[in-house]
Amino acid sequence: MTEVIIVDSPARAGTLVADEIVALVQRRADAVLGLATGSTPLPVYEALRPHAALLRDVRGFALDEYVGLAAGHPESYRSVIEREVIAPLGLDPDRVRVPGDDGGPIETAGERYEADLVAAGGVDLQLLGIGATGHIGFNEPGSSFASRTRVKTLTEQTRRDNARFFDSVDDVPLHCITQGLGTILDARHLVLLAFGAAKAEALAAAVEGPVTSSLPGSAIQLHGHVTVIVDEAAAARLQFAEYYRHAWAHKPSWQGL
Ligand code: PGA
Repeated sequence: MTEVIIVDSPARAGTLVADEIVALVQRRADAVLGLATGSTPLPVYEALRPHAALLRDVRGFALDEYVGLAAGHPESYRSVIEREVIAPLGLDPDRVRVPGDDGGPIETAGERYEADLVAAGGVDLQLLGIGATGHIGFNEPGSSFASRTRVKTLTEQTRRDNARFFDSVDDVPLHCITQGLGTILDARHLVLLAFGAAKAEALAAAVEGPVTSSLPGSAIQLHGHVTVIVDEAAAARLQFAEYYRHAWAHKPSWQGL
């Protein structure tokens, strides 16, 4: 089922998810984390900092990457993951992969990434944000639910949304390489976070709307273990918010997320 938890702040969401990751790593030191970039997952990485000593053997796979940025560009997701996740949490850089970061040809980077995911035993917990277009990873509207890691063209909306990380929208790459929806659905636990009013519409559509490739985030409804954690502003368009609050308030303590 999709569990929806409405919290009063992104920091609270970060703590909830960090506690879940800590519990996972205590069960298995080399657990595989599905890493996301953008602003949304930052409170999770922040809340994990006090637990860095536990995370030494953790493995990580990022959701997506731009195509066309120079290696080492500060806004490449490899650089972002190194800055925001690997360095502050003390992860081993060799145990963290980002699509296309192996130096091989981009044409077959998706297949190599999929093979590496399989070799690692798959993702235990996948962090997800959602874009205003309803994308998860960089799977823009129209993405097949069966899609695997591949090169895609970004929508102009996503390029505008991400222009804040660049000098201008013209500097935002046209292309990306992203785990597919089928890849994401193979993770054992999906944790989707959304904060702020700008996400309310896409979030409600993903959680409660029809399952459709026109709204790629709705693919989460096909997964058996999904936790959606949102602040009040992002929850504003949810039809069943009252029930979600009720269920969370009465959740059996043994269940975990
Ligand atoms: P954001 O992006 O976390 O920066 O809002 C989320 C996304 O586009 O998937």
